[in-house]
Amino acid sequence: MIRVSVHPTAEEACAAAASEVIKGLRTKPELVLGLATGGTMRAFHAALARLHRSEGVSFARAMIFNLDDHVGVPADHPQSFRRFMRETLFDLVDVDPERCFMPDGMANNLEAAAAAYDRQISAAGGIDLQILGIGRNAHIAYNEPGSTHESRTQVVALAPQTIKLAARAFAPAAPPRRGLTMGIGTILEARRIILIASGTDKKQAVARALAAPPRTSCPASALQRHRDVLFCLDSAAAFGVDRRTTGGPTASV
Ligand code: F6R
Repeated sequence: MIRVSVHPTAEEACAAAASEVIKGLRTKPELVLGLATGGTMRAFHAALARLHRSEGVSFARAMIFNLDDHVGVPADHPQSFRRFMRETLFDLVDVDPERCFMPDGMANNLEAAAAAYDRQISAAGGIDLQILGIGRNAHIAYNEPGSTHESRTQVVALAPQTIKLAARAFAPAAPPRRGLTMGIGTILEARRIILIASGTDKKQAVARALAAPPRTSCPASALQRHRDVLFCLDSAAAFGVDRRTTGGPTASV
């Protein structure tokens, strides 16, 4: 079941999601947390770091599994997801770097690295709370339209739209064309999922994700199969959501 909460601004949507993480850490300091990268996550990570300071809640015993990595982008590259996580979150909170994981897009054997990542998640006891963003084409992590809803961590070809969006950041070098991503099946095994979306660019993807039935052409619609999903949206991203179904500020779909 997907619940939807709509907030006036992106900052408020991110703060609502961040306060769920902080509540989770308070209940279970060794929380296994799944995190994402991307523009939406900047405000979310800032809210998490703020709450970490103001509420005095520690990340030191938590484990963090990131959703995905580009293939062939080294950790010290300005656009690397490792660097993004360091700069937007890990340097601002008390995470234990030994307890932070990301699929290794620089591995010689990407298939082996993908299988090893699923094993690491299982060995940690599975993900307690997974944070997701959503692509304009409704991808979740780097599971592009057409991905099966049962997929495990795997190497994927990025959709032309995803490559085009990354091109500006990577220019003048060519943008990566492949990703190493948790599969949709892996994501659906998380005990709780919170998807954050903001801005008018995301309204169509959000509306499609909520429209039954789940379809492989819309990766985020797979979340309808999960029993505990919360969409934290700003009002622009919620624009296409049917208010007759969602009703108040937090409602179930
Ligand atoms: C990246 C990831 C992606 C992004 C999505 C939205 O780790 O999981 O699915 O969440 O591409 O990215 P932004 O927030 O940049 O629009």
